[in-house]
Amino acid sequence: MGVWAGPWALWAGPWAVWAGPGALWACRCVTPPPALEVGADLPAGPALERWLGEPVRAAVLPTALFLTNKKGFPVLSRAHQRLVGRLLRLEVQVVLSGAPRHGGRPLAAYLQYLEHLGQHRPPPSAYELFARGYEDYLQAPLQPLMDNLESQTYEVFEKDPIKYAQYQQAIYKCLLDRVPEEEKDSNVQVVLVLGAGRGPLVHAALRAGRQAGRRLRLYAVEKNPNAVVTLESWQYEEWGAQVTVVARDMREWRAPEGADLMVSELLGSFGDNELSPECLDGAQHCLKADGVSIPCAYTSFLAPVASSKLYNEVRGCREPDRHPQAQFETPYVVRLHNFHQLAPPRPCFSFRHPKPDPAQDNARYRRLSWRVGVDTALHGFAGYFEATLYGDVGLSIRPETHSPGMFSWFPIFFPIKQPLAVRAGEEVAVSFWRCATPKKVWYEWAVTAPACSALHNPAGRSYTIGL
Ligand SMILES: C[S@@+](CC[C@H](N)C(=O)[O-])C[C@H]1O[C@@H](n2cnc3c(N)ncnc32)[C@H](O)[C@@H]1O
Repeated sequence: MGVWAGPWALWAGPWAVWAGPGALWACRCVTPPPALEVGADLPAGPALERWLGEPVRAAVLPTALFLTNKKGFPVLSRAHQRLVGRLLRLEVQVVLSGAPRHGGRPLAAYLQYLEHLGQHRPPPSAYELFARGYEDYLQAPLQPLMDNLESQTYEVFEKDPIKYAQYQQAIYKCLLDRVPEEEKDSNVQVVLVLGAGRGPLVHAALRAGRQAGRRLRLYAVEKNPNAVVTLESWQYEEWGAQVTVVARDMREWRAPEGADLMVSELLGSFGDNELSPECLDGAQHCLKADGVSIPCAYTSFLAPVASSKLYNEVRGCREPDRHPQAQFETPYVVRLHNFHQLAPPRPCFSFRHPKPDPAQDNARYRRLSWRVGVDTALHGFAGYFEATLYGDVGLSIRPETHSPGMFSWFPIFFPIKQPLAVRAGEEVAVSFWRCATPKKVWYEWAVTAPACSALHNPAGRSYTIGL
């Protein structure tokens, strides 16, 4: 047995060679959780990535792996440094094995070097700091239409440093486009803030009006009576007659005048999953014929994912009074951490506002497929969204286009009941449905390649979103 010291340890136990991708790793014969022995030649990127989706507890670094620097100290190659950095992010314990073999330096020199690597990692981003403690923690998606959000939930939204700045910019650009300079004193733009919460989008709209030098008359519409109390106090203390607070469901309210802009943030991690389409359709009659919605469009994205960790977390969510596998027929909002995304996200469902064809319903069907580059297991799908607020101003949680520093949304995870083995080069395909009745909306999903899974959540038996 070795000495374990913080994330570092000396280990002298028996390790068996594991003939996995590239056969360059060794894995101790204990399952689970696995430990990896890192070899001198690292496998290609995808094989390496694959291990980041495994619940690896320890990585063994033989002293023979180290190089000697000019001063005779043990150091790692750049590729090994990067790997150690990524393993440390997953809180993997690093185990040093073997005798010292670099210029007579003691084992402590190796540990000091590893400590140095740990301390000189890039500092966490604002997003990583915010997400600390939420890694791989499953949360039920919010239902802000059916439930009334708590004050502290709004408080978290309001801390986002990016979201409201993007809305302000979008409203600003829209106002400049709609009101020519010569009309700025006579033309008053009517702005509906739909789902105003405790008022941050009203503030953003007022700032945008001042920034653009355009005149606004606002209606702040909110159905949560607790949030309305805060809106009314803002109105009384700061906004004055320029803002009318409306304590109503936006789908039932009849605006006293046609609106130029409707501004809303009713987006979930999967874009439409907090029922923005249904709510905005219900309010569209308030908009003038040439009126604008901010956001004007949004699209959900899906990517196949391997994550034993998430699979086991979902398995543990079983509740005795629900359908036996209901926990696998429910999406979860989660800060994805110990996972491997098997291929880039692809667009799933898109919505535009105002709707070009008001008769079109919001049910959707999409089949998506990806080619996977490594032998792996499929455990489910990561979901993201991208939204266009106005023109080139948007919001995104898709990793490739993520709005820098924005932390209002974690991804969503759609699990599958049985992990599916996938061979390198095979296609993974899934069919996704967005189903809607006048009372509820839900998703159904089924994997169709490389093998067929059960249909998940048929008829919304395990998860629905109330209208
Ligand atoms: C995600 S929160 C956003 C709140 C606020 N705009 C912000 O950005 O912090 C959505 C808000 O819309 C409200 N809401 C949802 N559906 C609504 C509806 N049909 N009519 C009125 N308000 C609604 C919710 O109560 C909630 O306050």
